[in-house]
Amino acid sequence: MGQDACMESFGGKGGTFQCKILLLLLAGTCLGLKVTVPSHIVHGIKDQPLYLPVHYGFHMPASDIQIIWLFERPSTMPKYLLGSVNQSVVPDLEYRQKFTMMPPNASLLINPLEFTDEGNYIVKVNIQGNGTLSASQKIQVTVDEPITKPVVQIRPSSGAVEYVDNMTMTCQVKAGTRLLYHWLKNGKPLRRSPAYSFSPQNNTFQIAPVTKEDAGNYTCLVKNPVSEMESDIIAPTIYYGPYGLQVNSDKGLKVGEVFTVDLGEAILFDCSADSYPPNTYSWIGMTDNTTYFIKHGPRLEVAPEKVAQMTADYACCAYNNVTGRQDETHFTVIITSMGLESSAQKEKSLSPLASLTGISLFLIISMCLLFLWKKFQPYKVIKQKLEGRPETDYRKAQTFSGHEDALDDFGIYEFVAFPDAAGVPRMPSRSVRVSEGVSGQDVHNTIYEVIQHIPAQQQDHLE
Ligand SMILES: *[C@@H]1O[C@H](CO)[C@@H](O)[C@H](O)[C@H]1NC(C)=O
Ligand SMILES: *[C@@H]1O[C@H](CO)[C@@H](O)[C@H](O)[C@H]1NC(C)=O
Ligand SMILES: *[C@@H]1O[C@H](CO)[C@@H](O)[C@H](O)[C@H]1NC(C)=O
Ligand SMILES: *[C@@H]1O[C@H](CO)[C@@H](O)[C@H](O)[C@H]1NC(C)=O
Ligand SMILES: *[C@@H]1O[C@H](CO)[C@@H](O)[C@H](O)[C@H]1NC(C)=O
Ligand SMILES: *[C@@H]1O[C@H](CO)[C@@H](O)[C@H](O)[C@H]1NC(C)=O
Ligand SMILES: *[C@@H]1O[C@H](CO)[C@@H](O)[C@H](O)[C@H]1NC(C)=O
Ligand SMILES: *[C@@H]1O[C@H](CO)[C@@H](O)[C@H](O)[C@H]1NC(C)=O
Repeated sequence: MGQDACMESFGGKGGTFQCKILLLLLAGTCLGLKVTVPSHIVHGIKDQPLYLPVHYGFHMPASDIQIIWLFERPSTMPKYLLGSVNQSVVPDLEYRQKFTMMPPNASLLINPLEFTDEGNYIVKVNIQGNGTLSASQKIQVTVDEPITKPVVQIRPSSGAVEYVDNMTMTCQVKAGTRLLYHWLKNGKPLRRSPAYSFSPQNNTFQIAPVTKEDAGNYTCLVKNPVSEMESDIIAPTIYYGPYGLQVNSDKGLKVGEVFTVDLGEAILFDCSADSYPPNTYSWIGMTDNTTYFIKHGPRLEVAPEKVAQMTADYACCAYNNVTGRQDETHFTVIITSMGLESSAQKEKSLSPLASLTGISLFLIISMCLLFLWKKFQPYKVIKQKLEGRPETDYRKAQTFSGHEDALDDFGIYEFVAFPDAAGVPRMPSRSVRVSEGVSGQDVHNTIYEVIQHIPAQQQDHLE
């Protein structure tokens, strides 16, 4: 800009020669005329005064100070607004009312600002001294209307059913220009989601389909260069569930789906699942093949005198009458008399809780071991062992049943079970012989081979 000022000043007055000398000797002075503006872009508000500040400074004696303001819009001729020499202002009569300047202050006041005032404002300062120095600046002015508070409308307004309905939110603003719409959820910008879609302007936002996770506090934030406004919070109603249905009880021990309840204790079962609106719960009893309705409601209370008749299977059903979805969970109630006994022999025995835990643990471990053993015992080995064994061994094994010599039974027993395979020699099945009507091929027997291992040392010791 300073360079421009130089070129202009030299071109304007004195000869090329003078110019060169000045350039050499007075470069600093030349660059001394400096016109500055705090901002090259100013956002104005419609119908309000706009002040375009300009500062200038120079280092030479000046006789005249000239300030000129021009206005240009893309693809139109630049327009003269006003100018001044020393203290006297010469406005363009057309715009006399609108633009004001108080020289030597070069700042321009536009009042009132209108949409048509949007464009570039050029200020040019000429200093007449030994030569003429000139400098100019350009300020871009935008004119906007402030935003009014946005209002969000939601569809369906009555609430959306999870995985069924789509939800659309529309942000409406009564007044404002150059609007940029943003959507916030719980005060933070929306995270990207394939379920979301936005209108080109971003003022409409859709969730398709809506899920439970879409519940939250939504707001629409609208910005423009001169203002920003946020809507009130809108919290959509989302119908979902039931999820995570479970039955709990205040007393008794729950292992998996089995409740072990002490005789003579009142017990309260509580059924709960996450859903909106709240589920309708119903309790159902099941004996053999028949089911019977017990009651509605999330709680089932059983009085102490009724507990004795409780051992059976039950179910709790949760039904959401808006989503139309339901879930049910089954559980078994086992009544123990441990509670009564334990009070009598508290010192001797373990607490019912501990013993039940022990029993359960033992059962679980046994089943695990059996399962593992079954899984990893290679069939091949079994097969070989069976093939290499004379049939008499089986007979011998059979005869074990019923005998009473406990010492003979000593040892480690291995039960090998395998399905009825054609390649495996079978021991003559007594049951098949007895029931002559049944064809041998149709019978699916599981053959158990019993192998007795007698640890050598132990045997010696016994003998
Ligand atoms: C501006 O002021 C200077 C001195 O202050 C004077 O010499 C000059 O003539 C004035 N110019 C005009 C156009 O009045
Ligand atoms: C110009 O005038 C405005 C008030 O109209 C004032 O705020 C500003 O400081 C002035 N600038 C200079 C350089 O005197
Ligand atoms: C202005 O120019 C004259 C001659 O043209 C010169 O004598 C004088 O020193 C100059 N003044 C300044 C301040 O440069
Ligand atoms: C929800 O939107 C999806 C995709 O935009 C459309 O296929 C579906 O029909 C809409 N469902 C409803 C209930 O409007
Ligand atoms: C539309 O809104 C979303 C969410 O607020 C935002 O991430 C995105 O940048 C916006 N897009 C435009 C073009 O404004
Ligand atoms: C949503 O707003 C309500 C109050 O308007 C507030 O109680 C609730 O905690 C907010 N929820 C979240 C997730 O920010
Ligand atoms: C339960 O019903 C099944 C078939 O519905 C039937 O085969 C079975 O015998 C019934 N059991 C009892 C104990 O009624
Ligand atoms: C749905 O269930 C709720 C709560 O359980 C109840 O208040 C409402 O009346 C039920 N609506 C219908 C249509 O059954």
